[in-house]
Amino acid sequence: MDRTFVMVKPDGVQRGLVGEIIGRLERKGLKLVAARLERLPEERVDRHYAEHLEKPFYPGLKRYIMSGPCLLMVVEGKDAARTVRTLTGATDPLEAAPGTIRGDFGLEIGRNVIHAADSPESAAREMGIHFPDGVVEYHRIDEPVLYE
Ligand code: RTP
Ligand code: MG
Repeated sequence: MDRTFVMVKPDGVQRGLVGEIIGRLERKGLKLVAARLERLPEERVDRHYAEHLEKPFYPGLKRYIMSGPCLLMVVEGKDAARTVRTLTGATDPLEAAPGTIRGDFGLEIGRNVIHAADSPESAAREMGIHFPDGVVEYHRIDEPVLYE
């Protein structure tokens, strides 16, 4: 089964959206297999967003991500990276469809509530950065009725 990395950004934590976001992931059928509330150190933010280091928006993005604690998670389920990106919505909350997390809870591209790995390859890379010791393996009781 696929796993992916998801993170509630500092604005989501400060606005009390952690429970809502975890609830949406759980109700979709995704299984939470790792979670940690953490203020990210600079070195890990740079590794996490390595593809954006040279972008003009990066200094602001880094300040935002380091402005408070984030909730880091790994979830497991069918086509996990694609499934979570669909729930997350477009990068700019004004373009994100209603019903998505960014579409329902955000207004600004620089305060878009959640991060989700954009592919299985990114998910593997980001899980290695944030959860190098791995995840918690267990069976959820609803698995036999979630999957055909
Ligand atoms: P994320 O990595 O955070 O899940 O977001 P994403 O894949 O939807 O978008 P990405 O292109 O990876 O951008 C990472 C984050 O940088 C901020 N951003 N600001 N001002 C801008 O033009 C701009 N572009 C991107 C957003 O917070 C975005 O989530
Ligand atoms: Mg991205």
